[in-house]
Amino acid sequence: LHKDEEEKPPTSSTAQTVKIGIYFATWWALNVVFNIYNKKVLNAFPYPWLTSTLSLAVGSLIMLVSWGFGIVKPPKTDFDFWKALSPVSVAHTVGHVAATVSMSKVAVSFTHIIKSAEPAFSVIVSRFFLGETFPVPVYLSLVPIIGGCGLAAVTELNFNMIGFMGAMISNLAFVFRNIFSKKGMKGKSVSGMNYYACLSILSLIILTPFAIAMEGPKLWAAGWQKAVADVGPNFVWWVVAQSVFYHLYNQVSYMSLDEISPLTFSIGNTMKRISVIVSSIIIFHTPVQPVNALGAAIAILGTFLYSQVHFTSAPILHCFPLFFYYYF
Ligand code: 3PG
Repeated sequence: LHKDEEEKPPTSSTAQTVKIGIYFATWWALNVVFNIYNKKVLNAFPYPWLTSTLSLAVGSLIMLVSWGFGIVKPPKTDFDFWKALSPVSVAHTVGHVAATVSMSKVAVSFTHIIKSAEPAFSVIVSRFFLGETFPVPVYLSLVPIIGGCGLAAVTELNFNMIGFMGAMISNLAFVFRNIFSKKGMKGKSVSGMNYYACLSILSLIILTPFAIAMEGPKLWAAGWQKAVADVGPNFVWWVVAQSVFYHLYNQVSYMSLDEISPLTFSIGNTMKRISVIVSSIIIFHTPVQPVNALGAAIAILGTFLYSQVHFTSAPILHCFPLFFYYYF
């Protein structure tokens, strides 16, 4: 059976590369918008547990309505599907809330510089949890990734431990999420879009009680009133925007993950962070010292080297030199 039982014509490798290229570009653009609204909301309303819950709630609602009205064909799932989805949902919930807590404490660019080390976490997790070994150049490419992130962290003007640890926890959780997701989607009849929808619903159920315990309605009500007084009635639209864009970028990223390996996904994700880092520094006027920028550049260059030594056979990676040419 094809995904969600829909007939798909076979695609040539060029068409496949173009398709994944379009997914990647859309994923990155949606992610930039999400990050901007997410930070605007957190600046006015510093309750990351609630905002992460709302992102999942809005995404779940969008998909339930889409299934209900027949806009998207609902997936056929059984108990085993939801059982296999549980560890993915736990990892998604932890990674999501940890990243949001991080961004409530530090600049968006700092969170994403630390999150650009995700491929290093991927190698470490694959090595110690899955017993996979890699050629020496792969391990060597981790040196600039880890060193660059370290340099960026120690020279960050507004360093905050919770912000740093949140981004690190998010890295670890998302590597597990990607590995489990890819396993869960393999050979199954659920498409990337529907897989992510089910993931949102289960994560929402997991996160809600924790959000209430960590922050709770009392703080939310007072915080919301203050945010509306400070920002004006448009505040609610910022929350809607961050939630809708959160769902959309993740949905598109899962449509890509459906077609590529978890490690290629991690690399695409790191490249995405360049757009987020640059745009958030411009929009939020984040102060950056030259040595801080150097650390970020070394880390991202390390990821590029990693992709070259690890993935030279993956067609999408042939595009990466072009991305570098475009950015620098
Ligand atoms: C989140 O809120 O889940 C994070 O911002 C996700 O970050 P990422 O998708 O860029 O890894």
